[in-house]
Amino acid sequence: MTLRTIDSLGPLAGKRVVVRCDLNVPLRDGVITDDGRVRASVPTLEALVRQGARVIVVSHLGRPEGAPDAKYSLAPVAARLGELLDAPVAFATDTVGADASGKVAALGDGEVLVLENLRFNPGETSKNEPERTAFAGELAAFADAVVSDGFGVVHRKQASVYELELARPSAAGLLIDAELDVLDRLTEKPERPYTVVLGGSKVSDKLGVIAHLLPRVDRLLIGGGMLFTFLAAQGHKVGSSLLEADQIETVRGYLAEAAERGVDIVLPTDVVVAASFSADAEHVTAAADAIEQTPFGASGLGLDIGPETSAVFAAHIRESKTVFWNGPMGVFELAPFAAGTQAVAEALTHVDGLSVVGGGDSAAAVRQLGFDDDRFGHISTGGGASLEFLEGKKLPGLEVLGWQ
Ligand code: 3PG
Repeated sequence: MTLRTIDSLGPLAGKRVVVRCDLNVPLRDGVITDDGRVRASVPTLEALVRQGARVIVVSHLGRPEGAPDAKYSLAPVAARLGELLDAPVAFATDTVGADASGKVAALGDGEVLVLENLRFNPGETSKNEPERTAFAGELAAFADAVVSDGFGVVHRKQASVYELELARPSAAGLLIDAELDVLDRLTEKPERPYTVVLGGSKVSDKLGVIAHLLPRVDRLLIGGGMLFTFLAAQGHKVGSSLLEADQIETVRGYLAEAAERGVDIVLPTDVVVAASFSADAEHVTAAADAIEQTPFGASGLGLDIGPETSAVFAAHIRESKTVFWNGPMGVFELAPFAAGTQAVAEALTHVDGLSVVGGGDSAAAVRQLGFDDDRFGHISTGGGASLEFLEGKKLPGLEVLGWQ
């Protein structure tokens, strides 16, 4: 079964449509540092506005603990949305309280209202289904129909992602549709060679995806903090670099399985090792099997892949027809340790085929490093969601929309 689309909801002029977006953007001192998710939400909202729907946008931001917390307010996001839509966007200072009710009632055809952070309400993320259903019921009271478009959150069984969609006629928005189109191309007969680049700090977050991808890809390139657990699995010392000692055996199993299947797991041959975790730390390039032989000895910290590895990774990426990348290669936020991530991002822009940047930190990295979105085939808005999709998991927020 495929997703129910907005058309299935019938004419929406004059109807109140609650749209579940994922506007969970990074903020620094109340200023949005990457508005990618807000931009990605615009096409659906514009389509609904054009139809004359009364559009009520709901989203979470961060992980407040079921109570209002000013630093997680959606107010700056509502303001940014107004700029992008080039139209007034109203904002309610609560989610289902008096302010929200009043503003929903006052909403005219083709107007947009953003409600305050869903997660200021304990029912949104409650483990208890009746509590989630009760909160979803309060949201549903505002809605003639529901459009679910928060791709980044479809892996969460939360009130606005699941129970709300059951409570009213519901359909997927254009963003979810576009994301699934690309993810489908990665899973159904991808053009080969198919290379997956995995980075980020914890290998334990990526175990499921590695297991699922091994039979499907030609090559797996490993960078980021997780590379040290792979090096340790090969018997190398990694100094004080990030290491998940309890995963070494599992990783050995993957290395053996990859060898059996003829899948190339490409590990770094050199890394950038620093004296400490700071932008001005002394640092050197070391061979991957000699990390403790730098002047910093066993206290050296591996913070990026080295130049030789970057060149090898870039060459593999450029000769692939399909590339999926999730997770930075190093601590890209600190300039001396950004080169590996920069090299991978640059190589992805030269892929003659489909290149996909898988959300979260990798999306933030490419934008922070100055790459325009349109240089990539697709930048996903879902980090965790796209990984879980590629793991072959059933995602509640998609199942509820008819996806199987
Ligand atoms: C994300 O940033 O991955 C999504 O917005 C989901 O957020 P969560 O991990 O806090 O549920």
